[in-house]
Amino acid sequence: MTIWNLGGINADYVYSVPHIPTPGETLDGSNRRVFLGGKGANMSVAAARAGAHVCHIGAVGSDGRWAVDRLMEYGVDPRAIEEIETDTAHAMVFVAEDGENGIVVYPGANREIPEQTLKQALTQAESGDWFVTQNEVNLQTAGVKLAYDMGLNVAYAAAPFDAKSTEPLLPFLHFLILNEIEAKQLKAATGKGPSELNVKDVIVTKGGDGAIWFGPKGQVHIPPVPVRPVDTTGAGDTFTGYVLAGLDRGQPMEQALATAAKAAAIMVTRHGTADVIPDLKDVANF
Ligand code: RIB
Repeated sequence: MTIWNLGGINADYVYSVPHIPTPGETLDGSNRRVFLGGKGANMSVAAARAGAHVCHIGAVGSDGRWAVDRLMEYGVDPRAIEEIETDTAHAMVFVAEDGENGIVVYPGANREIPEQTLKQALTQAESGDWFVTQNEVNLQTAGVKLAYDMGLNVAYAAAPFDAKSTEPLLPFLHFLILNEIEAKQLKAATGKGPSELNVKDVIVTKGGDGAIWFGPKGQVHIPPVPVRPVDTTGAGDTFTGYVLAGLDRGQPMEQALATAAKAAAIMVTRHGTADVIPDLKDVANF
């Protein structure tokens, strides 16, 4: 089947810093590298490297042709990425010595994806395919509703988190992934915990404590894979892309989650984003 990913595509400018800058502080970065990134692009690459057929739906400016080429090189179908007259999105990513990050995103073309591009792309989708989106693009609601009406499996990675964007999507979701702080924020907004959202599968990631799957079997804890992190950027996106790829290939949720946990663990030992996402061979050798 196919994973249709309505997602952001960013140029990631990654700076190594001693710590994440505090208000009013100026720091020297010791290193600057440019990667393909964006939560959407990262998920597309992760799912493709996990063996799925992935069609990315999005937009870039003429300055983003390299990103489209790179997605294609990484096995993602880029035919539904529109070139528009708005700059490609970029992100300033500060990575501290302990591997933690701080990110500022300039949304650019990611928030101007033409509705026709989305609709045209999904005319090729079939019942049973997956549709996934995140909170870095426009058309999330339109995409989620259209995919739901077409009988697709609908997934939402609620990042960057905003309860107001997430809440209206809930009735149309089969799969929701968020971290534990976001789960608390969603509970504050809706009054409902993960098992009360009426979404078939809800995954709450807990960083070094693994993840919890709230699904038909109740709560299942997915243990962490211990590693020494050097850069956590894109690890969550890698996890999501791998889980969806596993489910798309018919794996049971526990198996998809266990593989995803390994892929995310490898990812935090690497510097960079989409370009360095591990493939299934890396995961098998881990
Ligand atoms: O989740 C990591 C991603 O967040 C980075 O690639 C950056 O582009 C931002 O979107």
